[in-house]
Amino acid sequence: MSTARRGAAVAVLLLAGAVAAPVALAQAPAVLAPPENNVLLEGEQRFRPQWSARGQVAAQEPLASAAGAAILRQGGNAVDGAVATAFALAVTLPQAGNLGGGGFLLLWLPGPSPARGRGCLDGAPGVNPAAVPELAIGGGTAVAVNFRETAPAAATATLFLGPDGQVDRERATRSLLSTAVPGSVAGLALAQRCYGRLPLQVVMAPAIRLAAQGFPVSRELSDSLAAAAPRLQADPASRRLFLPPPPPGTRLRQGELAATLRRIAAEGEQGFYVGPVADALVAAMERGGGLITHGDLRAYRARLVRPLRREFRGHPVLTMPPPGGGLTLLQLLGILEPFDLAATGLNSAASLHPMAEAMNLAYRDRNALLGDPEQVPVPVERLLSPAHLDAMRRRIDRQRHTPAPALEAAAGREGLNTTHLSVADRQGGLVALTTTLNFPYGNGISVPGMGFLLNNEMDDFTARAGSANAFGLRQGAANAIAPGRRPLSSMAPTLVFRPDGRPWIATGSPGGSRIITTVLQVLLNRMVHGLNLASAAAAPRIHSQLWPDRIDLEQGVSPDTRRLLEAMGHSVRQAPAMGAANSVEVLDGGGSLGTVDPRRAEGPAVAE
Ligand code: DON
Repeated sequence: MSTARRGAAVAVLLLAGAVAAPVALAQAPAVLAPPENNVLLEGEQRFRPQWSARGQVAAQEPLASAAGAAILRQGGNAVDGAVATAFALAVTLPQAGNLGGGGFLLLWLPGPSPARGRGCLDGAPGVNPAAVPELAIGGGTAVAVNFRETAPAAATATLFLGPDGQVDRERATRSLLSTAVPGSVAGLALAQRCYGRLPLQVVMAPAIRLAAQGFPVSRELSDSLAAAAPRLQADPASRRLFLPPPPPGTRLRQGELAATLRRIAAEGEQGFYVGPVADALVAAMERGGGLITHGDLRAYRARLVRPLRREFRGHPVLTMPPPGGGLTLLQLLGILEPFDLAATGLNSAASLHPMAEAMNLAYRDRNALLGDPEQVPVPVERLLSPAHLDAMRRRIDRQRHTPAPALEAAAGREGLNTTHLSVADRQGGLVALTTTLNFPYGNGISVPGMGFLLNNEMDDFTARAGSANAFGLRQGAANAIAPGRRPLSSMAPTLVFRPDGRPWIATGSPGGSRIITTVLQVLLNRMVHGLNLASAAAAPRIHSQLWPDRIDLEQGVSPDTRRLLEAMGHSVRQAPAMGAANSVEVLDGGGSLGTVDPRRAEGPAVAE
C-alpha cells in the first residue's frame, strides 16, 4: 500500500561529537558522567530512520506521504511535496488533514528567495518591502506561513458564555459558532505560489485522484470514524460522507471533495473563498447559527512571517512565532540549555524534574501573555531575553517541585486531531507543516455538497479568563476572542540548522498543549542525548503545563523514576501516548533520514 522502502541508514555518525559540550550549572548536583558504552553509534540504536538519496516525506498517513513523494519524483521541491501531502491528508486523514482548518508551515530552500520574483514579498498593502519576513541562513531562505484560522467579524469576547457566566462547552466545540474562518487553502496556495516549483494543478493531482477514485480504508481510519460516529451522526452532511464507518479495506470515495479540490486546483484559493464553495459554507452558517460571512471569507489572508530564531548549543533553531507555539519551545530550550541533561541521562528523575519545572514556567508565560501579535502586544523579545530566561531558571528548585497556585480539572484526552508532516527534497530543502481542525473531525459538521469538515478552533481562544479549554489550558485576556484575531496555538513546526547554518532537521507534532513539549523532547533527545532521529521520536515522553499540576508520563518511563519524582513533590500520572513527531533530517554527505512517529503511523515514503 505504501511506497515506503526501508533502506539501510548509510551514514553512521559518532553522536558524542555531534553537539557542543553542555555547560553545567554551578548549583547542579554532582552526577556521574555517562559510561563510555552508553554512547551508541546511530546505526546501533533501537530504532532506525529511513534513508533516501532523493528526498522523502514523513507524514501520518502512508498514502498521503506517497502522494508527496510522487511530487518530489516529478521534480517538485520540498514545498511542492508538503503541499501535495497536505491536500492528500485532507482526503485520507479526514480527522486532521483538512480544507476547513488551519495551520503553520516553516520552510527552508537553498539559494535566493524564489518568492521575490513572483510578487509575493512586495505589493501587499502596508508591507514595507525592505522588511520582508524571510530570514537568510545557510545559503538559503527560510520563511514561515501563518494560515491559522481567524475569528469572524461578528465574534465577541463573551461568545461562549452562558447566561450564568460559565463557558458553554457544547457551543465552544460542537456548534457552528466554534468554527473560525478556515486558513488551510489560502496557506497552502500561498506557499505553493511563492515557493513551489510545480503548478498547483500538478501538485494537487494525487489528492484529487485519491478523493475521486477512493482509497482502501485503514483500520485506524475505520476505528476513528466509529469513535467519532455520535458526533458525525448529528450532522446530515457528515453522516452522508462518513457513516456508517467503512470497514477496513473497503474503498472510501469522496466525489464532492474531489470536485472541491478540482475547483481549488483550477482557481487557487479563489476556488474556496469565493464562488460555490464559499456560498455553500455561508449558507450552512446562516442555517445553523454560525457567524462566518462572505466578507469574512473574502478578507481571509494567509501571512508570510519571519520565523523566530534562537541558538541552542550552537545550533540555530527556527520555529513558529505567536500565535504558534514556537516561542514557548524556545523558552524551554533556553531555560534548559545550561542543564547537563546528557549527564543526568534520558528520562531519569534528575533530568525530568527540571524539564517539568521549566514546562510549568513556560506555560505560565504562554497562558498569561501570548496571543495574536497582529492584535495584542506580545513581548517576544523580553520573553526570550537572557535576563528573563535566567530569572525563570532561577525559580527552579533543584530538589523540589514548585506547586502550581491551584489544581485544575484534568486536560482532555488527546486524539488524532492534528497532524504534522516533514519533507526533505534532494537539494536539502526542508518543510515542517502542522495542520488541524482542533478536535478529531473538527466540530463534526461538514459543508453540504462540498465534502469537507469544519474546524472548532474558536475553542483555542480564552472563552473566560482562567477557564480550562479542551486541552486544560487556562489562558488570559491576551487570547480573548476578537474579530479577525487568530487564536493562540501550540502548533510548533520547527527547523534546526547545523552550527555553520546548513539545514539539518525538520520536525513538529500534533498533541494539543503537548505539541510544544513533544517537539522539545525530540530536539533534546537528538541534540543532547545523541539519539538518532527515529529513536529520538520513539523515546517515551513526559508533559507538564502548570495546570493541572502534574506530570504526565508515557508508558516506558520507569517506576523508579516515577517514585523519585513523587518524592520531589510531583504528582505523576500514567498518560496515553502523546504527539506524533514525523521528522526528517538532512545528512552531511547528501541524502536524508526520515522517521514517522511509531505512536501513529507506518513508514515515510521515499522519492526514488
Ligand atoms: O492549535 C492548537 O494548539 C490546537 N488546536 C491543536 C489541537 C491538537 O493538536 C489536537 N491533537 N492532537
